[in-house]
Amino acid sequence: MDGGIGRTTDTTGQWCVAQNNRAFLRRVVRWAAEQGVRQFLDIGAGLPTQGNVHEVVRAVRPDARVVYVDHDEVAVAYARRLLPADGRTVLLQGDLRRPGELLADPALRATIDLSEPVAVLLLAVLHFVPDADDPGAAVAKLRDATVPGSVLALSHLTLDGLPTLPTEQGTAIYRRSSSPLVPRTRAEVARFLDGYELVEPGLVKVADWRPDGEPQAAVSHGYGGVGVRR
Ligand SMILES: C[S@@+](CC[C@H](N)C(=O)[O-])C[C@H]1O[C@@H](n2cnc3c(N)ncnc32)[C@H](O)[C@@H]1O
Repeated sequence: MDGGIGRTTDTTGQWCVAQNNRAFLRRVVRWAAEQGVRQFLDIGAGLPTQGNVHEVVRAVRPDARVVYVDHDEVAVAYARRLLPADGRTVLLQGDLRRPGELLADPALRATIDLSEPVAVLLLAVLHFVPDADDPGAAVAKLRDATVPGSVLALSHLTLDGLPTLPTEQGTAIYRRSSSPLVPRTRAEVARFLDGYELVEPGLVKVADWRPDGEPQAAVSHGYGGVGVRR
């Protein structure tokens, strides 16, 4: 399966699940930019592909600033060569599990003004953080560092509503890998949005968050939601 956003299909001929997530990213980023948000902090950004955050945002707000963060040094080294050196697109190696260090990073502070609303993007990353690392505290710290009107957008793997056996086999593989995967229930994912006013349609399968007519994979393995800080 190809995790990119090209028109590839998986072995069943369906749109790939990763494509649903990238399409969700594009919709939420466009929505936030249309609400007037001009600063984006994309944590767990992954490798640049088509329809990156800065490209989607700048189609709406050419002056927007975007900070990409990933903890993987290979992803960061590769992304650094592909992203524009325009002074408004910054890439940092940093860890969601250490939000204090991240928020104190001089490059982040030079790019993002925390006294203005920020859209924090946690797309397909929280399920790599086990409960033992307290992802809820990290998300709360990011929330508390931002002003009302800021946005949190997240997507998160779930096994809710899926047949047990194949998905359990899938997560067993991830458990043995260097990036263990932690699917969570809807209630568990909803807790990450505490302190935010959920925008319609709430926390739903990513394909159901304001679909715009783009083709989607038939099976949705992820919840997606967007909240505005009260
Ligand atoms: C599945 S990719 C998601 C990429 C992109 N956000 C998207 O939705 O298409 C997950 C990314 O999160 C990064 N990641 C995992 N744990 C992280 C952590 N604790 N801090 C920062 N990045 C992390 C991985 O290196 C990977 O690039």
